[in-house]
Formats: sequence, C-alpha cells, structure tokens
Amino acid sequence: MINAGVITVSYIIATILFILALGGLSNQETARRGNWYGIIGMTIALIATVLGVVTQHYTILLAALVVGGSIGLLAARRVQMTQMPELVAILHSLVGIAAVAVGYANFMDPTNHLAGIELTIHDIETYIGILIGAVTFSGSVIAFGKLSGRISGKPLTLPGRHWFNLALLIASIWFAYQFVLQSAAGGGMQPLIIMTAIALLFGIHMVMAIGGADMPVVVSMLNSYSGWAAAATGFMLSNDLLIVTGALVGSSGAILSYIMCRAMNRKFFAVIAGGFGTGGGTAAAATDQDGEVVAIEAEETAALLTGAKQVMIIPGYGMAVAQAQHIVNEITKVLRAKGINVRFGIHPVAGRMPGHMNVLLAEAKVPYDIVYEMDEINEDFPNVDVSIVIGANDIVNPSALTDPDGPIGGMPVLECWKGEVSIVLKRSMATGYAGVQNPLFFEENTRMLFGDAKDTLEAVFKAI
Ligand code: TAP
Repeated sequence: MINAGVITVSYIIATILFILALGGLSNQETARRGNWYGIIGMTIALIATVLGVVTQHYTILLAALVVGGSIGLLAARRVQMTQMPELVAILHSLVGIAAVAVGYANFMDPTNHLAGIELTIHDIETYIGILIGAVTFSGSVIAFGKLSGRISGKPLTLPGRHWFNLALLIASIWFAYQFVLQSAAGGGMQPLIIMTAIALLFGIHMVMAIGGADMPVVVSMLNSYSGWAAAATGFMLSNDLLIVTGALVGSSGAILSYIMCRAMNRKFFAVIAGGFGTGGGTAAAATDQDGEVVAIEAEETAALLTGAKQVMIIPGYGMAVAQAQHIVNEITKVLRAKGINVRFGIHPVAGRMPGHMNVLLAEAKVPYDIVYEMDEINEDFPNVDVSIVIGANDIVNPSALTDPDGPIGGMPVLECWKGEVSIVLKRSMATGYAGVQNPLFFEENTRMLFGDAKDTLEAVFKAI
C-alpha cells in the first residue's frame, strides 16, 4: 500500500527513536520521555510493516493484532509491580517462540527458490534463528516458573552437567551440517526438528541449573537472548528494522547482564555454568545464630528518626510487596522539613528486577537527588545515625562479606551495621530470596520492627 522508500524512511525514523528510547531509559529523569520515544517508534514500525510489507491476508493479521494486543493490554493492566519480573520472563518466551515459528514458516515457504551459496546462507540463518529462539523460549518459561515460585529456586545440578551441555552443543553443530546438506537436496526437516528438541532441552537445563541468587542475571541474559532471536528473525525475513532492534535489545541485555554480574561480584560464565545459590525465601529458616533479636515499636522508631541528623533509607523487595513507597515518601518529607538529611541507598539487585526500587520511588515522587546508588554511599554508613531497612534482606546481609562460600558470598552489600542503629522492617524472621539467614538481625545495634511495612510505616508516620 505504501512504497519501499516510505518504508525505509519509516524504519530509519523508528530506529532513531529506539536508540533515543534506550538513551532516555538510562536516567530516571528522562525515563518517561524514553518510554514515549519507544512507543512512538514501535507504532511507526508497526504501521509501516502492516501497510508496506504485508501484502495479503489482512483479515488474519488484524485478528491476530486484536487478540495479541488485547491480551497484552489486559496483562499489563492486571500485573502487580511485584509480578513484573515474571511478566518480563514470559514475554521473552514469546519472542523465542515467534523466532521458532518464523524459522519453520520460512523453511517451508514454497515461494523460496534459493540455490547454491544463497540457500546455504539462508539455511544457516534459519537454523541459528530457531536455535536461539528455542533456547530463549524454554529458558524463559523455566525462569517464569522460578520467579513466580512455581518451580523451586534450588539449582538442579545433575552429575556431569557440563559434559551434557557440551554434548548438546556438539550435537547442534552436527545437525546444522546435516541440515544444510539435506536442505540442498530438498529435505532437512528431520535435523531441524531434532535440533529444536535439543535447544529446548538446553534452555530448560541451563536455567534449571541456575540458583535463586543468580536469577537477576538470568532475567537480563534472557532479555539479551530474546534480542538476538529477534535479530535472527530479521535476517530470515530480510527485515532491517528487526535486525537493528534485535541487536539493540541483544546488546543492551548483554551489557545489563554484565552490570548485574559486577554488582553481585559474579563471573558471567560462572552464572551460566550454574549451581549457585539456594531456593527462594524459605518460610522460617533454621537459624545458626545464637543471639536474640531486639524488637521495637512504631513510637520508638519515630523518636529515633526525629532525633537523628543523618537517616539512610534502604528499600528492598518487601517495600514493593507492601506498596509502602508512598508512605515512605510522606515520612521523608516530614523528616526533611525538620532539617534531617534523608537519603536512599539503592542496591543494584534490590527487589526482583533491575531498577525495581527506582521505579517505585519515582512513582511515589521521591526526589531523584536524594536517591543514591550503593557505590556512592556505602562508605558513608559510619556517619549515619539511623538506617531504616524496608523489606530488604539479602542486600544488607553481612554474611555476603564474611562467608565467601555462602549463596551470596562475595556480593557487595549495603553496610548499614556500621551506622549508629539499623531498624529492620519485615513481617517475620524469614530469609530473603537467596534463602540465607541474616546476621544483621542479631547485631547489637539492630532493632526489628515487625509487621507489614506499609502498616508499620503508617504508624511511624502518625507517631512522628
Ligand atoms: P529479599 O532478600 O528477597 O528480602 C525481602 C524481605 O522483605 C524478606 O525477607 C521479607 O521478610 C520482607 N517482606 C516481604 N513482604 C513484606 C511486607 N509486606 N512488609 C515488610 N517486609 C516484607 O529482598 P532484597 O533485600 O531486595 O534482595 C533482593 C534479592 O532478590 C536478592 O537476593 C537478589 O539477588 C534477588 N533477585 C533480584 C533480582 C533483581 S534484578 N533485582 C531478580 C531476581 C532475584 P518477611 O517475609 O519476614 O516479611
């Protein structure tokens, strides 16, 4: 309906908008704008593709768009902030399965009359696209299961699992050779199906072997894979925009994985090799700690806060669960009005997805300039009068530093125990995501404020 020139220009504009979107998303103040660039870019890309590239079967296409769009809209409206990582994981799986479907459709397309080297190149594109797509699909489904607690966070460490992975890799290469050979002679379906099964198995095995503590890296890694799967689909369909977009997602996901690994002091290949960490938050962990915890009430907490000069707020996953960000902002406002220096310390893997805490604090309109990354404020704790730990656990666990072999061993944490007093808000003595006991709770200068974070903070607010 529209000519090739218009499509090309639309694609270039969409590409620029996607790059601007990524740029915008790198900073909280510009994130909203970045999102708009992304939305406009994707709208242009969709319109140009629907009107320019598709030439027939509009009814089927429209029906699919309506069904898919409605499901997406419904899911996005319904999802709780705490379920966001699961949603992201399952959405990655859709990119994977789409790449597999496109790969098969492409391979079976009767209008494809390539021969010689062109056919070989096309076959390799198809093979790689299906391979990455299948790994992304099954890996994301398992990640979804682990993040939503349907599958245990415990790493599955089969004996000889590295050899098993190596065998799968060698088999995939062998079947690639078979596929190219047979495809030239008019066949090839059999090796393609066998490889798909191998790739699905590999995706399952890879994510099953990764322990709870390494899940942040898995989410960003699968994000990266979904990008490469989309890029491979772009090659199969000769669609430049899909190649560029896929590469943008693939590389930004890879960079994010690297940042996550650095934040957790882990090596990327060690994460992929798996076997690290334990199951997710156990109900009441057996404690190897002798000491007792000192509980505190809301009134006393309010007195400590109003008597302080330097307050550090450390939010974690529990703040998201309790939806306590708004009341946190109210307390911040009154304390600042009293001349108290209130700052937020954000751990890179706090919550369940990258930037989780920043999103919540931005939603509650906490000023950006008092929100600090861990690296920026970790040395300031000796000068902090009161640290208030809101539903955070693993990210303030001193055993990360003292027990290098533990599930979170070696991960840098917010060292709030170095301050005057830490107040920990949580409902029970349960462990955090990595399932390890937290010696912070038993420190002499720690007080526990038990209860749902939103309820307890509302009581603290009243008392202030
Ligand atoms: P966690 O270690 O999971 O601890 C959260 C704590 O919040 C729990 O101990 C829980 O204790 C408490 N809590 C839950 N609901 C609450 C409520 N309504 N009110 C008050 N407290 C509540 O969280 P964290 O410290 O933020 O650490 C994040 C962990 O998740 C890390 O291990 C990280 O590796 C992992 N992870 C992160 C990501 C990303 S990308 N950020 C992705 C996947 C996994 P109670 O049950 O006793 O209340």
